[in-house]
Amino acid sequence: MIKRPKGTYDIIGEDAPFWHHFENKAKESARVFGFEEIRTPILERTELFKRSVGDETDIVQKEMYTFDDKGNRSMTLRPEGTAPVVRAFLENNLMSLGLPQKLFYMGPMFRYEKPQTGRYRQFHQFGVEIIGSSSSKADVEIIWQAKYLIESLHLHNYKFQVNHLGCSSDRLEYKKALKAYYKDHYDSLCDDCKVRYENNILRLLDCKNPHDVALKEKAPKLTEFLCDQCSAEYMTIKKQLGQLSIDYEENPFLVRGLDYYTGMVFEVKYPFSDTVLDILGGGRYDHVISELGGKDIPAVGYACGIERILSIMKEEEVEINIKPLSEIFVLGMGEEAEPYVIKIVRFLRRKGISVEHDLMGRGLRTQMKYASKIGARFTIIIGDEEINNGIYVVKDMETGNQTSVESSWIENYILDKLEE
Ligand code: HAM
Repeated sequence: MIKRPKGTYDIIGEDAPFWHHFENKAKESARVFGFEEIRTPILERTELFKRSVGDETDIVQKEMYTFDDKGNRSMTLRPEGTAPVVRAFLENNLMSLGLPQKLFYMGPMFRYEKPQTGRYRQFHQFGVEIIGSSSSKADVEIIWQAKYLIESLHLHNYKFQVNHLGCSSDRLEYKKALKAYYKDHYDSLCDDCKVRYENNILRLLDCKNPHDVALKEKAPKLTEFLCDQCSAEYMTIKKQLGQLSIDYEENPFLVRGLDYYTGMVFEVKYPFSDTVLDILGGGRYDHVISELGGKDIPAVGYACGIERILSIMKEEEVEINIKPLSEIFVLGMGEEAEPYVIKIVRFLRRKGISVEHDLMGRGLRTQMKYASKIGARFTIIIGDEEINNGIYVVKDMETGNQTSVESSWIENYILDKLEE
């Protein structure tokens, strides 16, 4: 048997209603905040991610599904959604529609990571981007939208963490300070961090190795290096979050795994089983648009991991409205009943009601079992006797009560019952 690729999964059975529930809530949260949907290809030119996400990031270095197509172009399955949105913004001249552009997207992303709890190779993100505003109000709008979505999913144990990465000169000074600090500890760093020390020192702060985590505690903090303007901006964001009663923790070591961030960054942490999952992350990325050939246009956004959120919803037994697949099962006994069955099925389907009938040539008992398995609310029974008398039996599957209904009135009876 051919198995699915490692780090992927099938969405089957009772999982699908959870996905629908999330998708509906996510779209609703986007609508409430005025975000319009954008759908971009799953496949993009590799260059797009190298130039935006950053050549030195783990994503670009190790995790991309990259291959040459038959025309010898290097293509990559998108590892994230922001760069494609920016590409589409530029390519379709969305700027001509006016700024800000507020866009949301939902779909699969691909990263060649080691599969573990909440980490897949094909996973799904819902994300929002505001392109065109440098105002701190846009940073806050993004966080506000994220909180709205999480709350609408009835999740409450979330923690927002925020930080500010400063402007490029702030970061330059900070990186120097980090280099100086870690120089004395270089030999004790893990192998990955030794590479990070040379190529991308900020990423050292993200290491999960217990020794490196302990070392970080005494490392210089980014916020100590913010210039007056960045400091003031950060203060304004925090003040506005306070005004909206959005609770957050400041995490001066929060740096994120993608290189394009420039100002405020944030993540949402959520306890799950014996670990804590990052369910959502984002921030400001003011240079991506110009780096991809556009004007100097600021932007801010976030994306959340749908699988992680769904796992938490299941663990916390969040109730969702799971509708039965079919509301009505029309049970026919024998060849003769068939035209009568089809007549009712056709009528009700035309009214948009979900109806099933037997496709297996099964007997009465097994059809009834099936009707119960699919969670039908009512079963209509049509056999020889029913046809001869012109009276059908309707069984309420919840109570077990049976009612005789004239065949000419059966459709109206069912419509009335479903409305009750
Ligand atoms: P990210 O932090 O790389 O940011 O991913 C966002 C979220 O996607 C994570 O918080 C996590 O929930 C989920 N995620 C990431 N990798 C995996 C994985 N292998 N398996 C399951 N879930 C995963 C971005 O992708 C940025 N584009 C976010 C952004 C939008 N920044 C600005 N705008």
